[in-house]
Order: sequence, then C-alpha cells, then structure tokens
Amino acid sequence: MVKPIPVTSPLLPPLESYVPYLEQIWESRFLTNCGRFHQQLEQELANHLGVRYISLFSNGTLALVTALQALRITGEVITTPYSFVATAHSVLWNNLKPVFVDIDPHTNNLDPQRIVEAITPNTTAILPVHCYGIPCDLEEIQAIADTYGLKVIYDAAHAFGVRWHGESILNHGDVSVLSFHATKVFNTFEGGAIVCQDEKTKRRIDYLKNFGFADEITVVAPGINGKMNELQAAFGLLQLRYIDQALVTRRQIFERYRSALQDVPGIDLIAPAHDLDWNYAYCPIMVDSETFGIDRDALYDRFREQDILVRRYFYPLISEFPMYRNLDSARPDRLPIATRTSRRVLCLPIYPDLDIVSQERIISVIHAARQS
Ligand SMILES: Cc1ncc(COP(=O)(O)O)c(C=O)c1O
Repeated sequence: MVKPIPVTSPLLPPLESYVPYLEQIWESRFLTNCGRFHQQLEQELANHLGVRYISLFSNGTLALVTALQALRITGEVITTPYSFVATAHSVLWNNLKPVFVDIDPHTNNLDPQRIVEAITPNTTAILPVHCYGIPCDLEEIQAIADTYGLKVIYDAAHAFGVRWHGESILNHGDVSVLSFHATKVFNTFEGGAIVCQDEKTKRRIDYLKNFGFADEITVVAPGINGKMNELQAAFGLLQLRYIDQALVTRRQIFERYRSALQDVPGIDLIAPAHDLDWNYAYCPIMVDSETFGIDRDALYDRFREQDILVRRYFYPLISEFPMYRNLDSARPDRLPIATRTSRRVLCLPIYPDLDIVSQERIISVIHAARQS
C-alpha cells in the first residue's frame, strides 16, 4: 500500500521543542489577551519579515474583515475572482460590494488596466491578492490608488517572507493581511496578522481585534474578538526557528519539479523573476489540453487514481459561487483570463517533508499521462 500524498502538510517542529513553551503557559496561567508570547511574536515577526507594525489575529479571515473596518472602507471594493473565497467574503461581511476584475495571465494577479476601468464614484478600495505568493504589480497599483484616492488592502495570505528587490512586499499598500493557517508556509495552527505602516493604524487595529477596548472601561468601536492566543503565539515563535530551512527545502522541491517538467509540452510552471525572493508556497502548473493531450480534469483524475491529492486552486472562481454570480462584474465574459486560468490550473504537492520518492511518483504521473 502506498501512502496518499497530500497537496500540503504543515511545518511541525519536534513536539519536545514545544513542551517548554507549554510549561511556561501553564505556570503563568496566561492563555490569551495579548500576553507575553503574543507580544514577543509581534516583535520577532516584524524583525523577521522586515516590516514596521504587525498585529496578530486568530486567523486570516478575521484579519481581512478587520482590515477593511480599520480603514473605514465604504461602497465598492475592487478585487480578484482568482483567490480563496475568504478574500471576497471579507468584503461582504463588511456590507460592501465586491467588484471583480480580470487578472494578468503572467502573474495571476489583478490586471492594473482592468482596475482602472472598474473604478466608479463609489469605489474606495482595492483588495488585491499576491496569488501563490507572487507579487502584484505593486507600483502600478499604488499609482492608481494615489490618482483616484483609494486605499489598498493586500490579501497577502500566501506571501509570508516574500521580498522583491530585497524588500518585503508587505510594506506596500495601506495594510497587508497574512494567514498562518496550517496549510500555509508559516503556521500557528490557525492564525493571521495585519501588517501596517504607522503606529496609529496599529493601535486602531489592536482595539478592533479586542472588542473595541481602548482600556479597561473604554470601548471605542464595535470591535470583534480576533485575538491570537498564547498557545498559537508560542508555536509561532518556535516555527520562526525552522522557517528559513523550510523555505530552502521548498525551493529545492520546486526546482526539482521545474527541471523534470520544463520540457513537457503543454505544462507550464511559474517562473519567478530574478529580483524576487519567493516563498515557494504553491506549485501551480497550467495544463494546455491541446498540446498536452488530455485536459486538466483528466490529469486531476489520474493523480487521484494514484492517491496523489493535487488541488485545483483556484477553481471555481469566487465569482461563480451563488452569493457572487449575479453581480455584473462576475460575468464570465468579463473575466476571460481568470476563467481560462481556473480551468487549466493544478497545484502539485509542495511542503518541506515531501520526500524525493514521493516527488518522483508525482512527476511520473505527468510523464505517463503525456505518453498515453
Ligand atoms: C488568499 C487567501 N485569503 C484568505 C485566506 C484566509 O485565511 P485563514 O484560513 O487564515 O482564515 C486564505 C487561506 O486560508 C487565502 O488563501
């Protein structure tokens, strides 16, 4: 019996290295409410990522919802259909209107030209996603935001540790939102964070994630409970000791895929730019059925038959789900690139523990499908 291969598997340091943290938590009896480990993780993450202010959350979705609240976004928010549903859900949870625009076929991120075309008098913000950890067109998006007076909230759920020209991409836009979900490059079981550029915004976010409490008896906003607890924060501190090696291993795995698949007609891999320090968060391939011989779904089935649990991120598009599909901006003819991409994409397993034998199994499915 061969073991199933998941698309991802969490980075888990040795259990015994977590125990001393647990002992300290038990001794202090301080389980949550922005305790010692929470404060320490905010500081260490800010240093590690090269950002100024960071506020931890219990998950990325609550961080996204809170980010839109913190910036007092109203009306319409321009966003991408090619993402995980939480991106657009955070807009609906704020009673705002998502406006979908198409993506760029090279980055799989919002196409700046399409953003401009979608701006109306009600537009107040852009919510782009650094899909797979590949940066959006940062400069162009900022130029549009400056010209039209819009806020930029980056959904950076995939973008832990990504640097462009040596600088963290999280320093772009008004705020960036990270996810530390178990499936992400860096995890705190569940978790997330908002990165912001000034102390005042950080303070407001901190109030909002703690019911709106500014002090013991003052509530300044209808806040939510989005706090990360001490067990999560301690686990994050531990993860930080292993993350650099994990990124090196991810890179090696990706490079192995690249050298094995680069000459397969009809299979395209991401080619990260030379000035990008990518995090190898995902390994999406694009299947061109005419050249490859079978289509994406047939290849997906071949993998499943071998217990290799590849995933179709992101299919269907967010704009195809019932709560979005009646929007004018959700029409497939308005989103041709995103629609085509979502029908061609397949994400191959990539995680630090993926061994060479398993990777060879994955690669051989593609080679065999090509020959069949
Ligand atoms: C692009 C994107 N945005 C938001 C989220 C939500 O993050 P979380 O699962 O931490 O709530 C995820 C992943 O889960 C995601 O992939």
